[in-house]
Amino acid sequence: MTDTFIDIIRFVISFCHVMAASTWFAGSLISLNINNLIKIHQSFETIFSHFINWTNTIISTLVLTGVILILDSISSIDSKLYIFILILKLFLFIWIALILYINRYKSYYFNNPNIYNNFVKLLIQSKLIFPITVVIFLLSELLNIIRI
Ligand code: HEM
Repeated sequence: MTDTFIDIIRFVISFCHVMAASTWFAGSLISLNINNLIKIHQSFETIFSHFINWTNTIISTLVLTGVILILDSISSIDSKLYIFILILKLFLFIWIALILYINRYKSYYFNNPNIYNNFVKLLIQSKLIFPITVVIFLLSELLNIIRI
């Protein structure tokens, strides 16, 4: 009975994580080419602004459910490769978060171009979000395969 209950909770958490991840995937794909999409159809502007409003919620859901998934699996995992891929995935996720929040709160630091902030600018381009997301999906599938 307890096992069934825990399995249901595990299923719900995993489902929420994958739903948030899929929403993130779709949103980042749309934002990649939003200017052209708006020219094709005005409704993309509404869809995009909804996505922007939901960004914090999606990110929080990914972190919360992701941490629960880690706590659930960590005791049964003894593969170093699993831990390595998980750390890589978290690193890429932090990269996405930095792109989002640095771009949102851009400071005067970027107003005076120099070699350092030009390099930072390259690393925090919004168009990197979608390719990084694709790599995260790939790593997540690898984690799933290694765990089995
Ligand atoms: C853009 C961000 C993210 C995306 C696109 C993403 C995507 C996914 C997907 C698609 C799966 C399901 C794999 C499957 O069962 O087939 C998954 C599983 C998982 N995710 Fe994420 N995730 C993201 C962020 C996070 C974060 C922030 C954490 C941790 C804090 C996390 C931890 C996990 C864990 C532990 C699993 C279970 C892996 C396993 O099967 O052992 N994810 N993720």
